[in-house]
Amino acid sequence: MTEILVTRKIPENALRALIDAFGEEAIDHWSTDDPIPRAELLERVQGKRALFALLTEKIDAELLDAAGSQLRVVANMAVGYDNCDVPAADKRGVYITNTPGVLTETTADLAFALILGAARRMGEAERFVRQGHWHTWSPTLLLGVDVYGQRLGIFGMGRIGQAVARRARGFGMEILYHNRQRLDAATEAELGARYVDFDTLLAESDILSLHCPLTEATRHRFGATEFAVMKPTAVFVNTTRGPVVDEAALAQALREGQLFAAGLDVFENEPAIHPALMACENALLLPHLGSASQATRARMAGMAADNIIAVLQDGPPLNAVNRDAVDDFLKKC
Ligand code: GLV
Repeated sequence: MTEILVTRKIPENALRALIDAFGEEAIDHWSTDDPIPRAELLERVQGKRALFALLTEKIDAELLDAAGSQLRVVANMAVGYDNCDVPAADKRGVYITNTPGVLTETTADLAFALILGAARRMGEAERFVRQGHWHTWSPTLLLGVDVYGQRLGIFGMGRIGQAVARRARGFGMEILYHNRQRLDAATEAELGARYVDFDTLLAESDILSLHCPLTEATRHRFGATEFAVMKPTAVFVNTTRGPVVDEAALAQALREGQLFAAGLDVFENEPAIHPALMACENALLLPHLGSASQATRARMAGMAADNIIAVLQDGPPLNAVNRDAVDDFLKKC
């Protein structure tokens, strides 16, 4: 009887770990690179004890009910879990696990690539070369803004925000940050980062990089009002979740010169991108690749598999986001 539904083609190491632990017959694998259609997901999850899911799947009450009461764990192969209705999982005693830590440096690398790429107009420059427009060196060709020695603002100073700050030190940058909670003095000193209020972050950053989770408090946190107070020379970078930004307002700010450029890895309605943003030459756009190195994706998938193995073998999950709530639920059963 199949016990585990895997919703996509995943790195081999993770599939191997699941097969070694439970046997091939225990796994129902939607093994293509395309997302599993919702109806298929609702049908195939029935009776499963574990779900290996991706951020493209909505894990909500409907899905948890479709699975049934034997479902023990949803292992989300992502650090962000805004696709999961955690209170609904709490109520049903289902662990939701994520993949913290293993993708920090890889995602920070990509954020820094977007900082450099957007500031130095790399997307436009590459299109320019490929389209055969490059005829000569020119003192005025595709001029960008500097990164070295500039002021970097970081919104959300968790693991990834801090990893970006460490890179920025190598670029001689002054680092400002805003976070729900201020870091302790020792961490601030180690990172060379100064805590500022949200308005100061907006007004003073030359480059602003977002590293907060998507929550009700951060949804559309950056919109027309925020862009209006940023520097017209500023570069805006988002590698967290698209809905933190009002995409239409960002496109307008880029078009009207309220911002110099944007580097974006995430979008409000992925894989769709607002047409006005697609039309902005000064937006460098990537298809949600933050953690996309071979080694990191293998580590993320391995961690998701290990969470399933731990729970189905009656151990505690390695890193459930709702460990206490589910432990309490199970104690009462
Ligand atoms: C990717 O976006 C993740 O949350 O891991």
